[in-house]
Amino acid sequence: MKDKTILITGANDGIGRATAEQLAGRGAHLVLACRDDTKGQRVAKEIMETTGNHNVDTLPLDLADFASVKAASEEFLAEHPKLDVLINNAGVYTDRLELTTDGYELQFGVNHLGHFLLTLNLLPAIQCCRHCTRVINVASAIHKKGVLDFTNLRGEKKSYNGTEAYAQSKLANVLFTMELDRRYGQDMTTNCLHPGLVGTRLANKKAGALTSAVWSMYKPFATRPEQGAATSVYLATNPEVRDVSGRYFDERQCLQKPSAIARNEQLARRLWEYSEQAVADFRL
Ligand SMILES: NC(=O)c1ccc[n+]([C@@H]2O[C@H](COP(=O)([O-])OP(=O)(O)OC[C@H]3O[C@@H](n4cnc5c(N)ncnc54)[C@H](OP(=O)(O)O)[C@@H]3O)[C@@H](O)[C@H]2O)c1
Repeated sequence: MKDKTILITGANDGIGRATAEQLAGRGAHLVLACRDDTKGQRVAKEIMETTGNHNVDTLPLDLADFASVKAASEEFLAEHPKLDVLINNAGVYTDRLELTTDGYELQFGVNHLGHFLLTLNLLPAIQCCRHCTRVINVASAIHKKGVLDFTNLRGEKKSYNGTEAYAQSKLANVLFTMELDRRYGQDMTTNCLHPGLVGTRLANKKAGALTSAVWSMYKPFATRPEQGAATSVYLATNPEVRDVSGRYFDERQCLQKPSAIARNEQLARRLWEYSEQAVADFRL
C-alpha cells in the first residue's frame, strides 16, 4: 500500500482509528479526517510511533456542518492530486433530537449527508479508473430495520426515536453505495459493510444515560475495534475485491444481501436527488 493515499473519516476513535492503524502498518499514506483536529493530531502521532509510518496527516472535518465539509474537501484537493481509498467511517448515535448546522436531523446529517457531500466533492481526486480507486462506506446490519421518511429528515415530527433515526441513516449508507456504483462504476468501486457488534464508545457519547449504560453492558460481548476494522481493511486492500462493486459485506468479509428496501433503485435515486439538493450550495 506504499503509494496509496487513504482518507478515513472519524479516524480518531473506535473502528476508524483501528482501521487507520492497520493501514498505516501496511505503509499507506493516511489522512485522518476528524471533527476535533487536536484529537486527530494526537492519534496521528500515536499511530506514527506504533507503526513507524510517518506518512500520517490530519484534516479537520465536521460532518455536521456542510461548510466544514467543503473546506476539508478544498484542503484535501489542494494538497493531494489523487485519492486511492476513501473510507466513510465516521458515525454518531443519539437518542435525543438534534440538528446539524444546516438543519438536518443529526444522524442522517452526519452519517449520510456529510459523507455524501465529501464523496462528491472529492470526485476530482477519486475519478481515476475502476481498478485503482475504492470507496468504502461503513454501514450497519441495522439498516434492515431502516425506513426513509422524507417528511422528517429535518426533525419535523415532534416524537424522536434514536434507534429508528440511526437505522434510517445506515439504510441511507447502503442506498448511497448502490447508487454511487450505478453512477460512477466506471471510475471506482464502491462497497459498504457491517463491522459487527464492536465495543466502541459510539453510544456512550451523545446518547442518554440509560442507552449509554445498556451499550456498556453489551461491550464485554462485542468484538474489539481491531476486529471491527477487518472488513474495512479487506475492502481497502485485498486484490480479491478489485473488481467487486455495489455490494454489502459482513464482519467476516462475506457478501450479504442488503434489505429489499436498500436494493430499491427508485428509492436510491430519490435519496440521491434529495441529498444533491440539500448540499447544492456546498458542492465544489
Ligand atoms: N460499534 C458498532 O457496533 C457498530 C456497528 C455497526 C456499525 N458501526 C458504524 O461504525 C462506524 C464507526 O463507529 P464506532 O463504533 O467506531 O464509533 P466511535 O468510536 O464513536 O467512532 C465514531 C467516529 O466518528 C466521529 N464523528 C462523530 N461525529 C462526527 C462529525 N460530526 N464529524 C466528523 N466525525 C464525527 C467520532 O469523532 P469523536 O470521537 O470526536 O466523536 C469518531 O471518530 C460508524 O459509522 C458506525 O455507525 C458501528
